[in-house]
Amino acid sequence: MPAKVSIKNLTMEYMLKDRVVTALKGINLEIADGEFLCVVGLSGCGKTTLLNILGGFFEHTQGEILLDGKPINEVGGEMNRGVVFQEYALFPWRTALKNVEFGLEMKGMEPKEREETAQKYIELVHLEKFAHLYPHNLSGGMKQRVAVARAYAYEPEFLLMDEPFGALDAQTRENLQEMTIEVWQKTKKTIFYVTHNLSEAVYLADRIIVLAGQPGVIHKEIRIDLPRSRDLFDPKVVDLIHMCTEAVRGN
Ligand SMILES: Nc1ncnc2c1ncn2[C@@H]1O[C@H](COP(=O)(O)OP(=O)(O)OP(=O)(O)O)[C@@H](O)[C@H]1O
Ligand SMILES: [Mg+2]
Repeated sequence: MPAKVSIKNLTMEYMLKDRVVTALKGINLEIADGEFLCVVGLSGCGKTTLLNILGGFFEHTQGEILLDGKPINEVGGEMNRGVVFQEYALFPWRTALKNVEFGLEMKGMEPKEREETAQKYIELVHLEKFAHLYPHNLSGGMKQRVAVARAYAYEPEFLLMDEPFGALDAQTRENLQEMTIEVWQKTKKTIFYVTHNLSEAVYLADRIIVLAGQPGVIHKEIRIDLPRSRDLFDPKVVDLIHMCTEAVRGN
């Protein structure tokens, strides 16, 4: 099967007024259809940059990126890509429920089905009591849950998530991690998931990519061949978290 995403020799440079910042250099990466890929690495190594390029928000400087075998700049809306940003990007003029409905409107879903679907995903992130509030009346963690519900409700074939649960308490985070695995197992979507949390990466991923340096390069790839759901106290899981920690440190 051809790769869902194929990246060859990617370089990304940001052109500032007085200098050029090279954020990524010589990235080669293939993501299989249905793979759960986690990307980790120290702050500033280019994780968000890579996510924004794959989401089609930034144009890369050099190299070749293919989505379903097609150059990324020609793909446009053909591949449904859903994104959860590092900072929750909700529409302030829409209630939580209406935010979740957004992608469904774009898909042309009928109002009744749209509302029912949005309601289902709002319940999945335990926000039914807050569905009719606007973002400024929600806590940071609640806003992030709305953003997650919005991305899942849209059922994108390629889901890009940038530290989606970073701002949440441990319990909510664990619930959403489990839910993410459930949604992924049910829908078999391809996921590109950025996190700082190495336990989370080992819990979720089929494969972990460790980026390092400035400009960021792929320092290491770690495959996680363990059945789900994974137990963070399993010695194999503990070893893998340790291996990731060392890799992020540059070892
Ligand atoms: N819009 C931009 N314009 C110029 N430089 C940028 C821009 N966005 C990111 N950079 C630079 O690119 C590099 C990578 O940034 P990026 O945000 O991709 O890192 P990150 O790995 O996501 O970090 P963090 O873990 O802190 O979120 C950094 O040196 C950063 O300063
Ligand atoms: Mg980032």
